[in-house]
Amino acid sequence: MTQPLIAPSLLAADFANLQRDLELVNQSEADYLHFDVMDGVFVPNISFGFPLLEAVRKHCTKPVDVHLMITDPDRYLDAFANGGASVIHVHYEACPHLHRTLTRIRELGCKAGVALNPHTPISGLVDVLEQIDVILIMSVNPGFGGQSFIPHTLRKIADLKQVLVANQCPALIEVDGGVSLANADALLRAGTDMLVAGNSVFGAKDPLNAIYQLKNSRQP
Ligand code: DX5
Ligand code: ZN
Repeated sequence: MTQPLIAPSLLAADFANLQRDLELVNQSEADYLHFDVMDGVFVPNISFGFPLLEAVRKHCTKPVDVHLMITDPDRYLDAFANGGASVIHVHYEACPHLHRTLTRIRELGCKAGVALNPHTPISGLVDVLEQIDVILIMSVNPGFGGQSFIPHTLRKIADLKQVLVANQCPALIEVDGGVSLANADALLRAGTDMLVAGNSVFGAKDPLNAIYQLKNSRQP
């Protein structure tokens, strides 16, 4: 059975003990580190940016999955690519020239990701499927960690999977927000390839084990 890719979200780590938490991720079965950038405009919260990415790159051995919850992300693509991002996700709702933006992300040597807010239909992606490496389905309204999973997401993922198969599109489906062992199996059955998990990893008594459990959450 194929195992999902796992991306613990740095937003839920202990910022006063970042090196310790990054070491934990390094030793775990995680495939990526998820890095949430919030600008206080596109979303009602401010998180962190370039200086932290540079610090993280020094200590983290996993590739970094950068989730830009910012307006006008084109202005910062070069800086995030130079800062060491492996994947850069822009929000569909923040990109009037999505084709150009995704093309630029690939030119910079990164995987191109598009994030969709819970209310954004998947139909807007059909004309840019060839430019996308990863589709990030938001299962909460972006801006904060620790929110409840929106159940409608399951149907959205199943619909998206059908569209990808019908178009022979190899893009991965990533899910972000309220992901835990309680919904991981259902998400994987619906077609998810990659799980982002903040609180269910760093809020767990044993985060290493929480990552292991998510990695092995697909039931027979
Ligand atoms: C929310 C962020 C998420 C967040 C997920 O806007 O994009 O990546 O860190 O946190 P949990 O898993 O706690 O919902
Ligand atoms: Zn995120």
